[in-house]
Amino acid sequence: MSRLANKHIIIGVTGGIAAYKSPELVRRLVEEAALVQVVMSHHAQSFITPLTLQAVSGNPVRTELIDEGAEAAMSHIELARWADLIVVAPATANFMARLAGGFADDLLATLCLAARGPVALAPAMNEVMWSAAATRRNARQLEADERLLWGPGVGSQACGDEGAGRMLEPHALVEHCIAALTPKSLEGLCVVVTAGPTREAFDPVRYISNHSSGKQGFAMAAAAAAAGAHVELVTGPVSLPTPVGTHRTDLSSASEMYAAVMDKTANADIFIGVAAVSDYRPKHVQAQKIKKDRMEGEQLEIELVQNADIAACVASQHPGVYTVGFAAETQHLERHAREKRVRKGLDMIIANDVSDQSIGFNSDENAVTLVWDDGESRIASTPKSELGTILIERITELYRQSPKAR
Ligand code: C5P
Repeated sequence: MSRLANKHIIIGVTGGIAAYKSPELVRRLVEEAALVQVVMSHHAQSFITPLTLQAVSGNPVRTELIDEGAEAAMSHIELARWADLIVVAPATANFMARLAGGFADDLLATLCLAARGPVALAPAMNEVMWSAAATRRNARQLEADERLLWGPGVGSQACGDEGAGRMLEPHALVEHCIAALTPKSLEGLCVVVTAGPTREAFDPVRYISNHSSGKQGFAMAAAAAAAGAHVELVTGPVSLPTPVGTHRTDLSSASEMYAAVMDKTANADIFIGVAAVSDYRPKHVQAQKIKKDRMEGEQLEIELVQNADIAACVASQHPGVYTVGFAAETQHLERHAREKRVRKGLDMIIANDVSDQSIGFNSDENAVTLVWDDGESRIASTPKSELGTILIERITELYRQSPKAR
């Protein structure tokens, strides 16, 4: 994955127990191809060692403001200029207070003050400290100073309490970093994304479904949110965390998805149908579980009726919405995709070959062909998260060129 390729990020670590998650954050950023330098406060070193963070970042860790050797290599002002983004994770109540007060009494606080790019804080503290009047005041001041506050989350805390004050998990902080560094090409636009499978019940405990994992749809939703869109993510049953900055609606059947999508696309700009919507549903749903009181080999017949095609309905009923569909094909990929785009009245279709086990359903990689009214392009096998970003960039470009753009 390389959604942060060539981005320079300083991770500041201050003295809270959540510092045990900081190496994981740094490792994930490096996996996304970011260049990471770590700066620790004195108290942070009581929780984890600079050596750990040096190992995962691949760079020496800075801890001192007055350090002749380090200053000779890169002064604190140069280091602040080097950073595209500074993230303090964890940020203690004490660090919040120092930054809100404009102090420059250690290297990290000085860097935040000297930064030209965004400075983000991932607060982590006991819930009573988080709700204390002074912390509330400092949080308001930091927001007024255009510092970004990511979290905290709500849940069980290291001290045994329950409540607000948990540092966001490293994967969520990485998504925040990507969003903070992504150009806001979809600012002011509403994008509706469907994801995952649907389930079509035929009795209270059984259903017909498919192997869709939801990964590609969630990656598209995350990338659209990072690009500044208001994102409505309408998803069938999947076990994936909600992408940062998206509004999620969970549902089960194709009929429920149809109703939710038609409602949400009434005021949308772009619709992206990634969900593997079941084409058929059982005609009758039995009120009780169907019993197996038959002879072996005897047949059970379930009558099916066709579901509405959600993408085609968006295209016909909301003609101002730029519509993008996905096409999972096992043969004649481009030809079938072209026909499907025209038949459904879509602006674009993104086709992938699901006969290849290494891409498509349930895998982490995907290779696709984009088809629109007067062009086609192919994207070679790429991790789904990265592909989400690439596809959102292409969709944005083609949307901007279409008469539907506003
Ligand atoms: O026709 P097919 O199922 O291959 O088309 C796939 C595309 O159509 C996907 O974008 C999918 O989300 C959408 N679709 C839909 N409603 C259906 C079936 C498919 O929106 N009932």
